[in-house]
Amino acid sequence: MAELRVLFSRGQIAARVAELARQISQDFAGEPVVLVGVLKGAAIFLGDLARQIELDTNFDFISVSSYGNEKQNSGEVKLLKDVDQSMEGKNVILVEDILDTGLTMSYLKKMILAHHPKAFRIAALLDKKCCRRQPIQADYVGYEIGDEFVVGYGMDYAEHYRNLPDICVIP
Ligand code: IMP
Ligand code: MG
Repeated sequence: MAELRVLFSRGQIAARVAELARQISQDFAGEPVVLVGVLKGAAIFLGDLARQIELDTNFDFISVSSYGNEKQNSGEVKLLKDVDQSMEGKNVILVEDILDTGLTMSYLKKMILAHHPKAFRIAALLDKKCCRRQPIQADYVGYEIGDEFVVGYGMDYAEHYRNLPDICVIP
């Protein structure tokens, strides 16, 4: 296994995720929310975020084709698993590990907006703003990072490293 450099430690991540959850709890005070996680990278983020949100919180999951075993995005998004419930009239928060080119989020946003939710927000743990190819922004961002490839805390390289507790950079 390659040498990895810690970019955000588990302690830093926990504190930041708690802040995001506090913001969400304030923004939707008194209302239920549905967290829609993008498999598999967002699973750990969603689990931690959900447990800090002080609202009636529902889960759903979506799966799209990813980079495969490449570090480059092919530019194609394919839906592998849709949500299980209608999003109509709901406060939907799409939960994603990384907003990179924005292709995935643009596709998913369009798809969910077609359900006519009451509100639609994006929570991205990491934002590679520099790499955007579609003009899309997250409403809740953990950290902005540069053009580097990260793993851990749910994120993978060729399906490895998802279970690392810290977010690390592959040199
Ligand atoms: P995009 O915004 O459509 O380019 O794709 C974002 C998706 O690519 C994210 O949900 C991640 O699954 C994956 N991705 C982008 N950058 C990285 C990275 O540095 N490490 C691991 N996965 C990444
Ligand atoms: Mg992803």
